[in-house]
Amino acid sequence: MPPDSSVDLPATNLADRIGGVERSKIRVMFDLARRSDDPDLVHLEIGEPDFDTPEHVTKAAYKAAREGNTHYTSNAGLSALRQAIAEMSARRDGGTVDPETEVVVTVGAMEALHLAALTVVDPGDEVVVPSPSWPNYEMQVKLAGGKPVQTPLPDDREFDLDPDRVADAITNETAAVVLTTPSNPTGRVYDRDAVEAVVAAAAAHDAYVIADEVYRRLTYEGPRSSLAATTEYPDHVITVDSCSKAYAMTGWRVGWLIAPEEVATAVTTIHESTTACAASVSQYAALAALTGPQEPVAEMREAFRRRRDYLVERIAEVPGLSCPEPQGAFYAFVDVSGLDGSSFDIAKRLLYDHGVVTAPGEGFGAAGQGYLRLSFANSLERLETGLDRIEALVENEGESG
Ligand SMILES: Cc1ncc(COP(=O)(O)O)c(C=O)c1O
Repeated sequence: MPPDSSVDLPATNLADRIGGVERSKIRVMFDLARRSDDPDLVHLEIGEPDFDTPEHVTKAAYKAAREGNTHYTSNAGLSALRQAIAEMSARRDGGTVDPETEVVVTVGAMEALHLAALTVVDPGDEVVVPSPSWPNYEMQVKLAGGKPVQTPLPDDREFDLDPDRVADAITNETAAVVLTTPSNPTGRVYDRDAVEAVVAAAAAHDAYVIADEVYRRLTYEGPRSSLAATTEYPDHVITVDSCSKAYAMTGWRVGWLIAPEEVATAVTTIHESTTACAASVSQYAALAALTGPQEPVAEMREAFRRRRDYLVERIAEVPGLSCPEPQGAFYAFVDVSGLDGSSFDIAKRLLYDHGVVTAPGEGFGAAGQGYLRLSFANSLERLETGLDRIEALVENEGESG
């Protein structure tokens, strides 16, 4: 097995804030896979739909470019797009959002989350992150000078949101709590009352809840409304969403943030220091996605559902492996604790000895040790091959052990 030390950042005279920031293990696996000379790797580590962007969206972007809409937009984004985001929130959820003062279009949800952290986190402030969680939060909080407080969710309850545990982690030092539902990496959709209990606890400490809802349209047990539309504390909620996952638009890089006016105004101002605005042509694409036919979203969701069912069934057949049924997103968090070594070791054995790329659970925080995240954003055929290979590893190691 080749060493993986070459993926470490080179030692140079970098700013102190870089020192505490670790590369995501998902990207590490991605890079190791890229260097592998196996042309037939099965990629189950990737967190993006394998579908193409719907054609009407691509056409709208082409038209916008041809018509000369290729200039900076306002920092907050195209007025028509903000209007569509506000209307969509109102239509789906019955709430009201002011497109002029409460919506900011960003370069994907990633930039929205980063700007949110820069806006509400002072140096030394704590940000509570129920874990296992998407690794970028930790990075974003650290870059803002804050301290991520990883709060492990109970693995014996399938990483469901335990509101008491999260509320206990909230103190007067807490600037924000991050809630991701459906969750990456577990696919868990949190109970509405549990979420509200966390928002109430955050509000009691004058902290914000950053609601990452990028997988909200990908739920398998009926649609979920946005947290901000149902909470009693909307002034404490910053909602982050994007076109990436639901519309198969990861590369277009359009997301947004919906927040109380003072937060949205500050985010609009500091947007100037990062990108000023999302790419204009991409914003036109996003406008077409949100206002055009929604059938492609439903079709992709149904395809993900079929793949989820297949994956869960296959995992249940492998002795020693288990995973709860994901309720949303396109990830299964598989318990591999019966195998030898850390989840990173297991992921490397799967890559080098069996040709399947997975995301090690420890990359999602210490609570994820002993798990692998498998993405089912891949064809049924590739999933079948990938699962055959995972099964082969378990069989081999069972025999040799
Ligand atoms: C939970 C979560 N939030 C945000 C993002 C970023 O999405 P975007 O492509 O809109 O920046 C991802 C991407 O993997 C994610 O999993």
